[in-house]
Parts: sequence; structure tokens; C-alpha cells
Amino acid sequence: MKSEHRFTKNLVAGVGVIGVLAGIVSCGGGGASNGGGTTSLQTKAQLGQALFFDTTLSTPSGMSCGTCHSPNRNFTDPRPGPTSAGVVPGLFGFRNTPSIKYMAYSPTFSISGGEGGGAIGGQFWDGRAADLQSQAKFPFLNPIEMNNPSAAAVVAAVAKGSSASAMKRLYGATIFDDTNKAFDAIVDAIATFERTPAVSPFSSKYDAFLKGLTQLSAAEVRGLGLFNGKGGCSGCHTSTSAPDGTPPLFTNFCYANLGLPKNKNNPYYTLPSKFNPLGSSFIDIGLQTTTASASDAGNFMTPTLRNVAVTPPYFHNGVFSTLDQVVNFYNTRDLGGFDPPEVPQTMDKTELGDLKLTAQESSDIVAFMNTLTDGYVVPTPGKHP
Ligand code: HEC
Ligand code: HEC
Repeated sequence: MKSEHRFTKNLVAGVGVIGVLAGIVSCGGGGASNGGGTTSLQTKAQLGQALFFDTTLSTPSGMSCGTCHSPNRNFTDPRPGPTSAGVVPGLFGFRNTPSIKYMAYSPTFSISGGEGGGAIGGQFWDGRAADLQSQAKFPFLNPIEMNNPSAAAVVAAVAKGSSASAMKRLYGATIFDDTNKAFDAIVDAIATFERTPAVSPFSSKYDAFLKGLTQLSAAEVRGLGLFNGKGGCSGCHTSTSAPDGTPPLFTNFCYANLGLPKNKNNPYYTLPSKFNPLGSSFIDIGLQTTTASASDAGNFMTPTLRNVAVTPPYFHNGVFSTLDQVVNFYNTRDLGGFDPPEVPQTMDKTELGDLKLTAQESSDIVAFMNTLTDGYVVPTPGKHP
């Protein structure tokens, strides 16, 4: 935890916020954060970063947002297992913790604004939070996550913590007098941090390739062609830049039911009935929870594929642990060999299931997905081999 905090200390120092200071995207320039203490929290983004990693904001203390969304693992959970343990020992969530990277680009949830009048955007695998601000309230109050009894308890912990003076400076001296306003300010700061370029750096090999700074290998080029062509992946995992110049996000933020089997190893199935009354017969209906429409059962948000090579396990229930398994599933779902779909009635039968990819083609697609990992260093010709 200590080293994680050191690593993250300068994440947002001196950088702009997406959409507000879009021109200032360099992370290297003169950081304002130093010496620790509250004086280093000059901006809402810096305050939000501090709150994101504040382990006093759980009950009992010890868990922060960063416990499950660690920057050392591309903002996913570094602890093993398909789903995340909460702060109360023995309790687990039922879904694989997604990365928060690039989620700043998810549009506000719309029930009908997507392709063919379907749902688009929002936060969570099922879109039940409309935007980043409303999302951040959930984990604080979820008994199987940070387990605080109320918004007032979260606000009280912030008011007596190391971010209190920055809260007052940035949101007004009386901010702690009104619990609702204070809770809104807390999640506003966290969302501001989540919108910084530090969380959406666009620094993969593929980004360098798009800028003409590097070449893709032969396998990666073939994989890109298959991703956009025979594999049909780009139909949902958008591989081209947006009209406003935003680099490819590798998601269209729409929802689909891929016909995934249950993950028998989901620790949620073993929770006491107070938390999971259905035990292993629990069915995750995904988007239907949000829209109340039966046709949305089993639909989940298309995640970005940025950093996917280094953020296993995969899918909303963490059922697969390698990209080879994932591609094999898309390629051969309908040929047998997999457990039955958890939600068969709404399964997508047109875009996947029998893609007829050869073994070479499958491995080329995986090679391409390996170019989407942030932190790529462009090789300098003539220097280190
Ligand atoms: C115990 C682990 C855990 C903690 C702590 C946690 N999260 Fe999450 N987070 C998850 C899981 C699991 C999901 C997906 C849940 C779902 O879709 O139902 C998620 C989803 C998200 C998403 C949406 C990402 C997406 O791809 O849809 C955001 C944003 C996020 N969390 C931010 C936060 C913030 C901010 C905090 C702290 C206030 C936090 N999380 C604390 C586990 C955690
Ligand atoms: C019909 C839209 C659609 C198409 C086409 C599609 N995907 Fe997906 N992809 C999704 C959705 C939706 C999910 C999440 C499903 C879930 O977890 O229930 C997903 C998840 C994934 C994941 C797991 C990501 C993670 O972080 O867990 C990978 C990897 C992936 N897709 C790769 C591919 C590849 C490779 C192809 C082409 C062979 C492809 N996808 C085609 C919609 C699609």
C-alpha cells in the first residue's frame, strides 16, 4: 500500500482535465505536489486523487477505491480471484472489477441512444450509474465493498481526515455543514480525478503506431486486419478515432449478451443468504437491472480493450483467464465445448459464435490486443537493442 501511494502521488500533478483543459495533456511537466500534507491538494483533481486512495473512507478503515482499482495494475484489482473481496472479511462482489481507465469517455447513460435504439453509456457493467459522479457513491455504501453505513459516515470521515482543508478551500468553507452537498463534492472531486489524462493516457503501442512513431509487427498487422474484418471485433470494440479526434476507445459503450457461461468459481455464490439468498442459482441479469426490460437480460457493457492483455480475468464474471480463451470463445461458442449460456434467451447469435478463425488468425488477434497496453516506449533507432 505504501509503495502504491508513492507511485500515485504525482499522477495528476500539473495536468489538465479531459474536456476542460484538453490541450494540456503532458504528464511530465512541473508537478505541484510535494512534501505531502493537505497543502499539496491544489486542484479538485488532486483532491479527488487523495480521496480515491484514502483508506480511512471504509468501515472498518483499510480499503480505498484504489484497493480494487490500483494504478499499478491499470486500475484493476491486483488481488487474485474473479471478483473482489470487500473490506469486511469473507464478503465478495459478484462481478469482475473493471478498469476505470478511459471510463471518463463513457457518455451519460441513455436507455435508447445506442445502436438500433438500445442502451449506451453509463458506468458499471450494467450501466446502473449514469455518470462518474453518481457511480462513486455506490462503493462507499455497498456492504460488500467499502461498507459505510451512510453518506453522513463518509462525509464525517473526510471531515476529520487529511483532505478536509482542501475540501473547504475548493468547495467552500461551509461544505461539511450539509451532508448531501458534501457527499456530492466528494464524488465530484473523485470524478474530476478520473477524468484526468493520467487515467486516460493513450500511451499504447497502437497509439504510437497511429501517430506514425512506430511500426506494428507482421502478426500485429494481420491481427488488426482480422479484428476489423473476419473477427468482427471492431463492430463493438471501436478501433478508429472519434470525429473529434479522440483516439480509438475500443468500445462503442453499447451492451450485448455474448452467451457467456456462469463462472462456477465466483465466490459470491458462497456468500451468506443475507447477501446472496439464491446461492449458486443466482443469475446475473445485467442491463435488465437498470432498464427493467426483459429483452436486456444478460446484456453487459462492452468494455474497452485498452490494457486488456494485462488485466485478466475477463468478462463481467471473470470466467476466462487468458486472451486465447476469450478469442476461442468468440470463435467456437456455437460448436459445443462450453457450459450453457447463463442467459440464453437474449444471446447474440449473429456477430459471434462460429467465426471460422484459424489457430494462426486467433493468435494474430491476440497479438494485436497486446499492442493496446499503456506505457509503450517508442524504441530509439541505434540505441539499446
Ligand atoms: C471492493 C472492490 C471495489 C472498490 C473498493 C471500489 N470498486 Fe469500483 N468497481 C468494482 C466492481 C466490482 C465494479 C463493477 C461492478 C458492477 O458493474 O456492478 C466497479 C466499477 C467501477 C466503475 C465503473 C467502471 C466500468 O467499467 O463500468 C468505476 C468508475 C469505479 N468502479 C470507481 C470506483 C470508485 C470511485 C471507488 C471508490 C469510491 C471504487 N470504484 C471502489 C470494485 C470496487
Ligand atoms: C456484439 C458486440 C461485440 C463483438 C462483435 C465483440 N465483442 Fe468483445 N465484448 C463485448 C461485450 C459486451 C463484452 C463484455 C461481455 C460480458 O462481460 O458479459 C466484451 C468483452 C470482451 C473482452 C473482455 C474484456 C475484459 O476486460 O473483460 C475481450 C478480450 C473481448 N471482448 C475481445 C473481443 C474480440 C477479440 C472480438 C472479436 C473476435 C470481440 N471482442 C467482438 C462485445 C463485443
